[in-house]
Amino acid sequence: MRKKLLLGNWKMNKLAAEAKEFALASKELAKKAKEHNILLGVAPTYLSLQAVKENASKDMIVAAQNVHFMDHGAYTGEVSIPMLEELGIDWVIIGHSERRTYDNETNEKCNLKIKALLGHNMVPVYCVGETLEQFEKGLTKKVVGEQIKEGLKDLSKDEAKRIVVAYEPVWSIGTGKNASTEIAQDVCKFIRDVLKDMFNEVSEEILILYGGSVKPENIKAYLSCNDVDGALVGGASLKIESYEGLLNNIL
Ligand code: 13P
Repeated sequence: MRKKLLLGNWKMNKLAAEAKEFALASKELAKKAKEHNILLGVAPTYLSLQAVKENASKDMIVAAQNVHFMDHGAYTGEVSIPMLEELGIDWVIIGHSERRTYDNETNEKCNLKIKALLGHNMVPVYCVGETLEQFEKGLTKKVVGEQIKEGLKDLSKDEAKRIVVAYEPVWSIGTGKNASTEIAQDVCKFIRDVLKDMFNEVSEEILILYGGSVKPENIKAYLSCNDVDGALVGGASLKIESYEGLLNNIL
């Protein structure tokens, strides 16, 4: 039986002091999540990772929002995996649509990052999803299928077991325009089928999240879908009250 996962993606929000305040306030929630066997986490900016790691419960997953695939070198403005490891960070979001759109994050680059993370025993949360134009042209499965095959290319079954996939239709991110639960289930099931072609029985163990305008009021419906194991939440994960509402509604 797969665990449920609730992961907040804070994007470019919160000063370190605000992140620390949230981390302290989240301790009780982490305890509650653990009692219910739910994985709970947040992904702060690089500059807030340490504050959250040091002040949140040790059961709280603290994820970075990106990382470089090289361990060190002449890559101005980048952060490496060993630098995250030094802070005790072992989860990283890879290939978020905002990075694909604004920072030229390709499937190939995601693949390099995912392989590097797995080499360091870390957990990549690999984001996939189609744009509005692709959705309207009926290209969702073509696009998502390619993202999965290219991004997870050459992984062993043992490595595949340790990844998390997040399906985030770009048209539903931050727009308040949700994908229906039917769409979420259909695409997440499709992702699991592609993973089955690639990794056989291991596909049943891989957590697949839905993301895009998830709120306390709709999270339960998504998580009741067979192939949706959790949620990657942006806006509604920023305030502790709303984050608590998300958790309470999936207990
Ligand atoms: P929203 O929940 O704000 O739509 O963002 C979703 C997302 O991009 C999470 O990674």
